[in-house]
Amino acid sequence: MITEKNKVFMLTTRETSYIFRVLPSGHLENLHYGDRLREQDFRAIHMKQNAGAGSSVLYRDGAMSLDLLPLEYAPNGKGDYRIMPLEMEMPDGSFVTDFVYAGHEIIEEALPMETLPTAYGEDAMTLIVTLRDKLFPVTLKLIYTVFYDADVITRRVLLKNGTDQILKVRKIMSASLDLLSESYDVITLDGGWIREAHAHRRNHAYGTLVNESSTGSSSNRHNPGVILARPGTTEDHGRCYGVNLLYSGNHHTAVEVSSHGIVRVMTGISPHNFLWPLAPGAVFEAPEAVLTTSGKGVNDLSHHFHDFVNHHVIPERWSGKERPVLLNNWEATFFDFNERKILSMAREAKKLGVELFVLDDGWFGERNDDTAGLGDYEVNRKKLPGGIRGLADKINAMGLYFGLWFEPEMVNEDSALFRKHPEYAIRVPGRKPSKGRNQLVLDLAREEVQNYIISQVETVLASAPIAYVKWDMNRHISDLYSEAVPHQGMAFHSYILGLYRVLRKITEDFPDVLFESCSSGGNRFDLGMLCYMPQTWASDNTDPIERLKIQGGLSYFYPPSTMGAHVSQSPHQQTLRRTPLETRFHAATFGLLGYELDLQHLNLKEKEEISQQISWYKSHRKLMQFGRFYRYDEEKDNRVNFMVVSEDQEKAVLGNFQILQKPSPSFDVLRLKGLLKERLYQVETVKASMDIEAYGELLKHITPVKLKPGGLILRNARKIYRLPHNVERYEAYGDLLQSGIRISQQFMGTGYSKETRMLGDFGSQLMTVISKEEVENGDR
Ligand code: DGJ
Repeated sequence: MITEKNKVFMLTTRETSYIFRVLPSGHLENLHYGDRLREQDFRAIHMKQNAGAGSSVLYRDGAMSLDLLPLEYAPNGKGDYRIMPLEMEMPDGSFVTDFVYAGHEIIEEALPMETLPTAYGEDAMTLIVTLRDKLFPVTLKLIYTVFYDADVITRRVLLKNGTDQILKVRKIMSASLDLLSESYDVITLDGGWIREAHAHRRNHAYGTLVNESSTGSSSNRHNPGVILARPGTTEDHGRCYGVNLLYSGNHHTAVEVSSHGIVRVMTGISPHNFLWPLAPGAVFEAPEAVLTTSGKGVNDLSHHFHDFVNHHVIPERWSGKERPVLLNNWEATFFDFNERKILSMAREAKKLGVELFVLDDGWFGERNDDTAGLGDYEVNRKKLPGGIRGLADKINAMGLYFGLWFEPEMVNEDSALFRKHPEYAIRVPGRKPSKGRNQLVLDLAREEVQNYIISQVETVLASAPIAYVKWDMNRHISDLYSEAVPHQGMAFHSYILGLYRVLRKITEDFPDVLFESCSSGGNRFDLGMLCYMPQTWASDNTDPIERLKIQGGLSYFYPPSTMGAHVSQSPHQQTLRRTPLETRFHAATFGLLGYELDLQHLNLKEKEEISQQISWYKSHRKLMQFGRFYRYDEEKDNRVNFMVVSEDQEKAVLGNFQILQKPSPSFDVLRLKGLLKERLYQVETVKASMDIEAYGELLKHITPVKLKPGGLILRNARKIYRLPHNVERYEAYGDLLQSGIRISQQFMGTGYSKETRMLGDFGSQLMTVISKEEVENGDR
């Protein structure tokens, strides 16, 4: 809902209000962003300035200093010395701008952009406030879109050059927001390859903190999502704000605590190596920024983001649509496969309940390792004599969907494409380019390169029944130079505009194909990619203990329905850590479940376990993929709990993970979240079993004969027997479950009974929660 009265704008969502007004000077003053307020006289929250503070510069005679005001989009060079949202060289050569109110318009829908992805939604409403520079005919439109049910407001700007000279835009933020509070904790997701999206929280009391990327993509170093939480805010209590950006290139979010305690947050394209010459009459569209706030803790804030992603970002046709359980061959084979091997993996996968087989890297050109072949999407007939069509048909005939890997934005020097079109690769003339994974990046700013990619990918997609595509991108950009742009300051952003054109065309032409984006894992996990591809491979790290940090971090901004999560072979290829099969599944089940291991290396019992996992997941899939996801504050470093609750609060699943076993540990209490207090529920441990090897010599206490650890009998016994985990069952009301179940005692170093919870290092359990009513309706 958006209203305007006497130049006061009220943007209202289900639970929040965003209010600003036009000042007599024509600038916009932010009055409130927080809990929902009714319409009233807002003079009580106008900023009152009676005298300029000592050294402040006054905008006009009297007491108005822009520096002391919470502004919507500050003008540059007029006495506001905080970080600036817009910096450009004007026709007079100065960097001074002074944008003031010139009019506004309220529209009953979201307005899609032509060049960049935009959030959509039937209930969306848009406010466009036009600001005009006081000296030159340059206009800046501030565009606000309200997504009522998701409690999200998006912001972006559109800059139009009405002069007859080129404007040089050095920095243009999509949104800038000033909040009245002296200090916030800032939460960011940082990391690198195989350790993406680790959440970091620190107090930010003074100065400027910047969260940005310069790799050419949103990056695994710093995700574009940022949260500001009042000190003391927890997962379930307290005020917090979140920002994110629908953009996949270099991003920039800065948080400044000013000398008078106003906190300015701004987000947009990174100014790193950015310079956009805006021609006379031209318009620059900035990507859409996402804002949300909650007074009920960070979990609630995440729920706003999750609703927004599920209903307003990912392609509408995938919204709420359950995703298949897949098997991907990458960790099992790398480049070393042939049709026979692939078919036997697929056959085994089918027996276990897998629905989609994905053929990863290595199927085209001379791509037998990572030094060659990228760019040439001709199938390698030595490996796949029947081509992609032949393989896909055979896999379909087994009753499986078929999926395929591509890395279309890249080229190897050892490829037919590079030999024919070396100019397609990004590099500075006269300089030897740096390489990443032996490859160069194609210049997607060039239209002929975009067209080449579109035609290569579409030819393959049209040639066979391909139901799924994994779209990979395995290096950062360096040596940036593009023939396609008049100024190299445009190159990074033009790459992303080219990428979006390619993605829009291919995904529109093949609307039924499920696309999963990937960039060495989660190097491009962002809302821009999600606008075209509803899911992302979260990380190349498939170790479940690492995944808890990665998926837990991503969950601040992105719902489980966006996170590819696979069960792989232990010891894990990324960490050499050994983890139990059940924990690998338990971590992956809080995402889009897949398997990435050679099923033929599993024993009978492990296969049985996997088949049970898949059938359990299928019957809980809607809940696991689209349920309300909760994190926990308690003991984050040694114990991680995840919980999902169905929209109607009738069903839930809790995952309880232990990192390291403590000697003689204290008793565990599980506090369930998101349930209805007055509803009666049944809680039950999901059956799982453990490899008997984990017990070592302790087995002698529970087996009638003495077994030698590592001996032949034990080695054979583990193929036919796994020890069942303890199972607990309770019936209780939501209020009791919320205050905490005291679950069974863990192994204390002595004694064992069927009730003992044997978790050990990296152990875990799942518990299902279902309302009594549902049980009686037979929905178990
Ligand atoms: C990086 C991806 O993240 C992996 O899953 C795999 O697809 C490889 N690329 C293949 O080269």
